[in-house]
Amino acid sequence: MKLPWVLTFAPLLISTSALPYSEYILAPSSRTLRPLSVHTSNGSVGNAESLTTTSGNAIFQDDSATAYDFGINIAGVVSLIVGSVSDSNQYIGVTFSESSLWVSNKSCDATADAGKDETLWFHVTGPGRYTAPREKERGAFRYMTLVHAMTGSVEVTAAEIHYTAMPHWPDDAIGNYSGYFHTDDELLNRIWYAGAYTNQICTIDPHYGDALIHIRKINSSVSDATNVTWYTNHTITNGTSALVDGAKRDRIVWAGDMAIAVPGVVVSTDDVITIENSLNSLFDIQNTTTGQLPYAGRPFPSSLSTTYHLYTLIGVADHYLYTGNVEYLTSLWGKWKLALDFSLSFIDHSGLMNVTSPSDWLRFGMGGHNIEANAILYYTINQAISLAEALNDTASIASWQATADAIKENANLLLWNQTAGMYVDNETTTLMPQDGNSWAVVSNLTLNSSQAESISTNLVKRWTPYGAPALEAADAISPFISGFEIQAHFLAGNVTAALDLMRLQWGFMLNDPRMTNSTFIEGYSSTGELHYAPYLNDARISHAHGWATGPTSSLTMYVAGIHILSAGGQTWRIAPELGDLKLADAGFSTRLGFFSAKTEMGDDKGWTMRFQTPEGTSGEVHFPKLACAGQILMQETDGKCEDVLVEVADADSGPVVIDGVAGGQWHVKATCSEE
Ligand SMILES: *[C@@H]1O[C@H](CO)[C@@H](O)[C@H](O)[C@H]1NC(C)=O
Ligand SMILES: *[C@@H]1O[C@H](CO)[C@@H](O)[C@H](O)[C@H]1NC(C)=O
Ligand SMILES: *[C@@H]1O[C@H](CO)[C@@H](O)[C@H](O)[C@H]1NC(C)=O
Ligand SMILES: *[C@@H]1O[C@H](CO)[C@@H](O)[C@H](O)[C@H]1NC(C)=O
Ligand SMILES: *[C@@H]1O[C@H](CO)[C@@H](O)[C@H](O)[C@H]1NC(C)=O
Ligand SMILES: *[C@@H]1O[C@H](CO)[C@@H](O)[C@H](O)[C@H]1NC(C)=O
Ligand SMILES: *[C@@H]1O[C@H](CO)[C@@H](O)[C@H](O)[C@H]1NC(C)=O
Ligand SMILES: *[C@@H]1O[C@H](CO)[C@@H](O)[C@H](O)[C@H]1NC(C)=O
Ligand SMILES: *[C@@H]1O[C@H](CO)[C@@H](O)[C@H](O)[C@H]1NC(C)=O
Ligand SMILES: *[C@@H]1O[C@H](CO)[C@@H](O)[C@H](O)[C@H]1NC(C)=O
Ligand SMILES: *[C@@H]1O[C@H](CO)[C@@H](O)[C@H](O)[C@H]1NC(C)=O
Ligand SMILES: *[C@@H]1O[C@H](CO)[C@@H](O)[C@H](O)[C@H]1NC(C)=O
Repeated sequence: MKLPWVLTFAPLLISTSALPYSEYILAPSSRTLRPLSVHTSNGSVGNAESLTTTSGNAIFQDDSATAYDFGINIAGVVSLIVGSVSDSNQYIGVTFSESSLWVSNKSCDATADAGKDETLWFHVTGPGRYTAPREKERGAFRYMTLVHAMTGSVEVTAAEIHYTAMPHWPDDAIGNYSGYFHTDDELLNRIWYAGAYTNQICTIDPHYGDALIHIRKINSSVSDATNVTWYTNHTITNGTSALVDGAKRDRIVWAGDMAIAVPGVVVSTDDVITIENSLNSLFDIQNTTTGQLPYAGRPFPSSLSTTYHLYTLIGVADHYLYTGNVEYLTSLWGKWKLALDFSLSFIDHSGLMNVTSPSDWLRFGMGGHNIEANAILYYTINQAISLAEALNDTASIASWQATADAIKENANLLLWNQTAGMYVDNETTTLMPQDGNSWAVVSNLTLNSSQAESISTNLVKRWTPYGAPALEAADAISPFISGFEIQAHFLAGNVTAALDLMRLQWGFMLNDPRMTNSTFIEGYSSTGELHYAPYLNDARISHAHGWATGPTSSLTMYVAGIHILSAGGQTWRIAPELGDLKLADAGFSTRLGFFSAKTEMGDDKGWTMRFQTPEGTSGEVHFPKLACAGQILMQETDGKCEDVLVEVADADSGPVVIDGVAGGQWHVKATCSEE
């Protein structure tokens, strides 16, 4: 008998280069970068445009300058290749700026609390390549100005940047993400990728952190500091990469910033080693007697921040949640518990923590029985309980549970204002902060869903045309705290509010011409001025701050609906919440494997959903609502599991949740019955 012709198909391999939507990735494809265009030019510069090509011949004659635009925020070391020169004693200067506001032929934007950073000068003695010393790498800039301020001329044939962010990734693979995201809303798509890229540019070689040479010397009371010196050559962590607060400034490790940045890293690049290097550097300078952790990593002067101390603990808990790496958790567990005890020692007779240090994210009034600090403490104690369970170290669980219960009870007794429907900052004020109210929802300090809904409704009412203001920081919009506000809206069930805030605030941060169109700013005023209340020096504001990347993780986790519930995804929840969107598609990898979910709403009220989770894991699936009578059929693509069929009686039927779903590739189709 003749055998039938058999076709064998190779299994589809999920390799990173095969990830969809890579056209949105902003990371450069090579480490050698050239300007994209000329921004402005003064004086006599011949062929200024030519430096955007591979064969340049820009001639700077007498007093002249050209500002170049790289199109996106970048980071690195500049090299100028000089052709002919009028004589052997010429100078060419270079200035850098993230925002177009500070493009100048006199100075860079700023890294100190006052003034502007000095120009980087090259003494040009003849043709050749002139490269800045490594401590003169600039951590972030979109604009670079070449300045000639003397008689004579210099021909520049190339102005190149050696890109230095993501130092531990291969030169041609800086954009090799392990995660992706897509919807039918182009603005949200750009926001997701700009968040991912912001965290990448904040990932630096740890030998080139900020030396903080002017800290507490040049400060905001020195208003006329000019020609401020700058260099970045302080070793801030071990290893070969570190996640810092901002790319230009401060280039040091801050645990608070990591609370937003790390989940964004997990869903885009899964760059776990960088997170470990950064957390390790904080525990490395823990006070081993008291357990106190630093406000910030080296070389920041030692000081206490109640909240940043807790954020370091949250960083370790997040690391375990997203990796399931028990060895790493175990290596820090003793120090972790000592640090928790330090925090618990601030709880007084009221059952709440009394905050005695003002240091937080540069808000004012951080002290006493503060709602934000107590919500974060409540959250951390709950993490302590789940980590202790994972490690079978159960001795303290009952006492921690009692402490957490008391915080919840007393915060609601002392700090909840039922008339206003929000928490006050502490019991001696009427101020109702954005940070504490958002954190109360995120940490589940609220006693019921109506409290969460009321907070969400009240926060929405405060929005200005530029975003969600933080009343606890004067006239400021904080992209950091607004990242927690977004989570609060999702948790309170108002998906529209979460998406609207992303479009309003992050849309402004991306599209305004003073921004970089690629990375997210640290803070600004509630009226859209690029003035951030805690600073007098506007040129100092960082335009690439990891703490401003909240939407990236929220879009993947809440909108596409991929929630990691335990140990690197051993258990998970798939629960898409599309709001007004028609499509949400996301995926990312953890040590356990690949997670993805794609949901599409049909024109006929029906919808389809495909999701994938690793073999051996299990979870629950929350279906989108089917707004009609009909049925939902869920099938494992390889036929490993029984089909699940759900009859939906009518449009008012409640949400459908299927528990105990095995890891695998699933396809779900929801259809309305024939009329
Ligand atoms: C050109 O001159 C103007 C006016 O002095 C200045 O604002 C601008 O920064 C200069 N641009 C460059 C590239 O030199
Ligand atoms: C800054 O330094 C440059 C070069 O050393 C000098 O020409 C200039 O006058 C200085 N500017 C100020 C405002 O001191
Ligand atoms: C950093 O660079 C400055 C300026 O070049 C230099 O004076 C200083 O010694 C360097 N510090 C370290 C730790 O290398
Ligand atoms: C690097 O690790 C060693 C050993 O733990 C430690 O002594 C040192 O302080 C660390 N350095 C930094 C910059 O974190
Ligand atoms: C640790 O804290 C104690 C109590 O505040 C203090 O006396 C000690 O100097 C600190 N140790 C270090 C290494 O800073
Ligand atoms: C209580 O909150 C208000 C508003 O933030 C603040 O001004 C005040 O200093 C706080 N009290 C303490 C003890 O920190
Ligand atoms: C918090 O502690 C400080 C310093 O010990 C004390 O002055 C203050 O009264 C305490 N605040 C409250 C609300 O108990
Ligand atoms: C905790 O106990 C369980 C059940 O005995 C065991 O499977 C697990 O490996 C233990 N975990 C650790 C970190 O020791
Ligand atoms: C609660 O908030 C309302 C409305 O903002 C305000 O009028 C009232 O004074 C507050 N109550 C207390 C006890 O602060
Ligand atoms: C939040 O707290 C309430 C009790 O106040 C509890 O019933 C509920 O399960 C908690 N929610 C989560 C997600 O832990
Ligand atoms: C949900 O948020 C939107 C703003 O996006 C707002 O208009 C609406 O009132 C909010 N819904 C509730 C119940 O607060
Ligand atoms: C901003 O960047 C996007 C790509 O991310 C690009 O399509 C758009 O043209 C840029 N906008 C401006 C004004 O340059």
